[in-house]
Order: sequence, then C-alpha cells, then structure tokens
Amino acid sequence: MDMELKPLFATPVVKLHLPETEMLKQKFAPEMLRRYRAGQYNPPAIWETDRIHTSFGAASKDQVISPLPAAYEKLLGQFVRSERYGLALWHNVYWDGQEYQEKHHHIPGHISFIHFLLFDNAEHKAPIFYDPARTTKAYCRHPALPPEFSSEAAKIDVAEGDVLVFPSWLEHHVPPGNYTKPRITVSMNITLPTPGF
Ligand SMILES: [Fe+2]
Repeated sequence: MDMELKPLFATPVVKLHLPETEMLKQKFAPEMLRRYRAGQYNPPAIWETDRIHTSFGAASKDQVISPLPAAYEKLLGQFVRSERYGLALWHNVYWDGQEYQEKHHHIPGHISFIHFLLFDNAEHKAPIFYDPARTTKAYCRHPALPPEFSSEAAKIDVAEGDVLVFPSWLEHHVPPGNYTKPRITVSMNITLPTPGF
C-alpha cells in the first residue's frame, strides 16, 4: 500500500550558510574567548542555568559585536521587510565548563537567528527544538503507533558558518557538553513594531 506522510502546519526553521563566517570569526572570536576566560558575563538571574557564558542582556556598548556588521544586516534583511525593528544581539560560549542552556524561547522577539560562529560537528552538540504542540500530542502517544504521530523534539545538524532562523516562540535547549574546543554562537532577536504604530 502506498503511503505518504503529509506534515501539516510544519514549523518553519531555515538553515543557511553565511559566507562571511570566517571573517567574522577572525574579527570577534579572540575577544569572545578572552572574555570567557575572564568570566566577564553573568547569566540573567531568571535563567535556570548558571553554567553558561552569555552576553545576553548586556548593553550594546558591552557587546563584542557592536555595531552590527554588514553581513548580519544583509542576513536580517533577507527575512525582515521593515525599516523599523528592535534588535538584540548577543554571543554564547560553551567550552570546558559543561555549559548548557535549559529549554527556552525568544519571546518577545518575533524572529530569531543563531549563527554557529565556531563549531566543530565532530564534538559540538546542536540545539534541540521542541514542538509547541507536544503537550497536546502527549495524549495520543502510544508505543503501538508510528513514532511520527507523537514526535516532539528534533535536532537539526549544523556546521560552522550555518545560521538557523526560526520563529521566536519555538522552544529549544542547548545540551551540556565538556568540549576540548570552544563552541561559539551569535544569537539575534528581531522585535517588530505593532502594525499601524
Ligand atoms: Fe535560544
């Protein structure tokens, strides 16, 4: 019997490769690693993890990446057709401290980006994304049914230079790893004004 799986209402996650990655890495990674060793940032108090090195929440003047590089501006412009938007940009280093980030979303952003600036897929772990319908799907989960009917988490394999673009409501987490090499991501949230304002 011919069968075809038709995934309705699929969550849009775009993966692309940023050609300017090497240039951005050369320019910013050394200072990011210096700040990691110096323990320069503290994670926000409401986050569960205290094993993460993130510049999230730091003022723009205290970010390694500021002002916005042209490569990122061009990237954002491919997805956001608006002259006005709010931008939050921060970086994260996961290295030899078993760093991780618990399940979270990027609301009140509208669209979010993760750029894998320094990433070795031989040892670094990709983020795990979670289906927003997972609690509803849990009612119908059963080992006698095909797993596609109740899958709730998914991983997208990434390589250095890749960017994942996703709606900010999409929950995800970064698993812990004890890495020999640093893993650096740059995250961006775009927040758009209410239409008409
Ligand atoms: Fe995130």
